[in-house]
Amino acid sequence: MLKRLCKTLVCLLAASALGTAMAAEPIVIKFSHVVGEQTPKGLGASMFKKRVEERLAGKVRVEVYPNSTLFGDDKEMEALLLGDVQIIARSLAKFEQYTRKVQLFDLPFLFDDIAAVDRFQQSSEGQTLLKSMEGKNVTGLAYWHNGMKQLSANKPLRKPEDARNLAFRIQTSAVLQEQFQAVGAKAQPMVFSVAYQALRTGLVNGTENTYSNFHDQKLNEVQKYVTETNHGVLDYMLITTSDFWNNLPPDIRTELDKIVVEVTAYVNQEADRLNQQDKQYVLDAKTTEIITLTPEERNAWRDRMKPVWAKFEKEIGADLIKAAQASNVAP
Ligand code: LMR
Repeated sequence: MLKRLCKTLVCLLAASALGTAMAAEPIVIKFSHVVGEQTPKGLGASMFKKRVEERLAGKVRVEVYPNSTLFGDDKEMEALLLGDVQIIARSLAKFEQYTRKVQLFDLPFLFDDIAAVDRFQQSSEGQTLLKSMEGKNVTGLAYWHNGMKQLSANKPLRKPEDARNLAFRIQTSAVLQEQFQAVGAKAQPMVFSVAYQALRTGLVNGTENTYSNFHDQKLNEVQKYVTETNHGVLDYMLITTSDFWNNLPPDIRTELDKIVVEVTAYVNQEADRLNQQDKQYVLDAKTTEIITLTPEERNAWRDRMKPVWAKFEKEIGADLIKAAQASNVAP
């Protein structure tokens, strides 16, 4: 009798230990991205992991995969939708398969500076865009800044005519394709991880990116000139799938939402600092001359590139373009 009782007790204890072990199994969030750890996105992903693991210890574990080590930017969206990763921070230039409206951010010379971009992103129109892909199971959690883009090449680009017949590496975006065609150049869409090689081997002659990404990929080693045009923005949408986010236990989702807000503030502040620091790095490396434009010279680029807007106005929506332009005026 005593023996049977003991056996039952052991079974009960084992079952309860198993139950505890099963209940303790943390939710895993894989966060894949394509840039280095010392970039706005890289720092954001690491900070997200840190905060989640401090505040949701044992409940949620975050695995960060930087530098396209898990998925490149051609595969990360598919991976997200298949549930192979749970969060990505994808460049706003790379959403056209999912919504045409986000192409807005690629329109050249739309935003005067990152403060204007920020005002638009926080506006009701900007926030609506975050939720515009829910029908496709994509939920926008936040916008993360990287910064304003500069042009680069192996010859000085001062006037739009200087870009004629050059080939530029671009992110996969119809707007960016048109932007370079508008100055008589060719544009070659490529994933981020091959930009360096494409420039090194002469497959393309130039590119556009932020100082942060330029430094991250050491593009200064293969580009002799940067022209500080600030002609467009390269920012991110931090996304997950609606299926994943909506099925999280409510208390966990609430805490994750709070962490996203905090990390977003951190990324947006760091982005500015990193871009300034990485510009200095390019200067110090003495590989690359940074060309600054007079207002008249910059206007010449604007005049050539701005007609691109008209081609996309119908897809994006004239109202949205107007709202974005309004954000150039500080309240
Ligand atoms: C690029 O392809 O140049 C960028 O979108 C990379 C990134 O994620 O910043």
